[in-house]
Amino acid sequence: MIQVVNNQSLKSYNTFGIEAKAKYFVIVENEKGIKVALELAQKNQWEIFILNGGSNSLFINDFEGLVIKIETKGISYKIENDFAFVTAQAGENWHNFVLFCLDHNFGGLENLSLIPGNVGTSPMQNIGAYGTEIKDSFFSLKALNIQTHEIQEFTNADCEFDYRESFFKNEGKNRFIILEATYKLTTKNHVLNTSYGAIEEELKRQNIENPTIKNISEAVIHIRQTKLPDPKILGNAGSFFKNPYICLAHYQGLKEKFPNTPHYPMNQEVVKIPAGWLIEQCGWKGKRIGNCGVHEKQALVLVNYGGATGREIFELSEKIIADVYEKFSINLQREVNIIY
Ligand code: EPU
Repeated sequence: MIQVVNNQSLKSYNTFGIEAKAKYFVIVENEKGIKVALELAQKNQWEIFILNGGSNSLFINDFEGLVIKIETKGISYKIENDFAFVTAQAGENWHNFVLFCLDHNFGGLENLSLIPGNVGTSPMQNIGAYGTEIKDSFFSLKALNIQTHEIQEFTNADCEFDYRESFFKNEGKNRFIILEATYKLTTKNHVLNTSYGAIEEELKRQNIENPTIKNISEAVIHIRQTKLPDPKILGNAGSFFKNPYICLAHYQGLKEKFPNTPHYPMNQEVVKIPAGWLIEQCGWKGKRIGNCGVHEKQALVLVNYGGATGREIFELSEKIIADVYEKFSINLQREVNIIY
């Protein structure tokens, strides 16, 4: 019922387009298949790697164990009062899921249009863009416990969401396989979030005064397409780094040296600084080293011009981290998952 392939190239399974091989590789299309694959790995003592959309992974080496590629499909919903509870299987493409919700006039995910990746990884790193994070409309998920093979349910609170963080990136890391996620979306009186500068500008440019959720989605798609590289054309994994949070005293020190430092107060003591700005100030924007480089329009995105290895991209990220630290005393953290 499952078919294990030896020495499978992962090039078309990661959005960076890195050539790495999986010693063993299996595509699973249902829960039973996932369990059988897990049992096989446990019997053979193979290390496992759960691969979903491959949009947030950088393979440094070949993977010497079993890569389990999740391709479970299906979207269903039920309506209660003024809300739709929409459940998608982990292998559903995120943007198709957003489009499904828009077609049914379910509001809440429109700002998250066109984010690469699949539904199963959306709660892992609490994906976010243009003033919205999934935690704002996430309801619950079902996950398979890798040790016990039990299916566990996690509420929004159980997932411990934070900026690009969740339980599944921390204590829950490598312990669960997310099977499906449910979002609680509005069916009427949608709460629109147009406060992000770029969205406001785009709606104005299109002369839209009273936007619908579809208008917002289209504006976001337009902004993303003009700013961010399409992984099908230029390999990348979106933001490579997280925007750093620094303490107020640190920010005030920086402001004296660099008066134009963009900053977003998070609370009275913490300030967020855009990593893209820090990287650009270090002269990295648009720079190319060998087959990889820093995107010319968004310095937070590292790109594979074709033929780059995972190690080359990793080494480029090390250089950027070192330069940003030297200039600003800020230690950038990677958002992308590095697979050694
Ligand atoms: N900036 C620069 N130079 C750059 C890029 C950015 O100076 O090359 C500065 C500008 O001051 C700009 C500010 O950074 O005003 C913010 O830039 P942008 O609106 O592009 O957003 P971001 O903070 O760089 C974050 C997310 C993106 C998301 C956008 C839009 C993170 C790590 N990244 O980027 O998410 O699309 O906001 O909401 O939080 C992703 O996670 O893969 C991703 C693309």
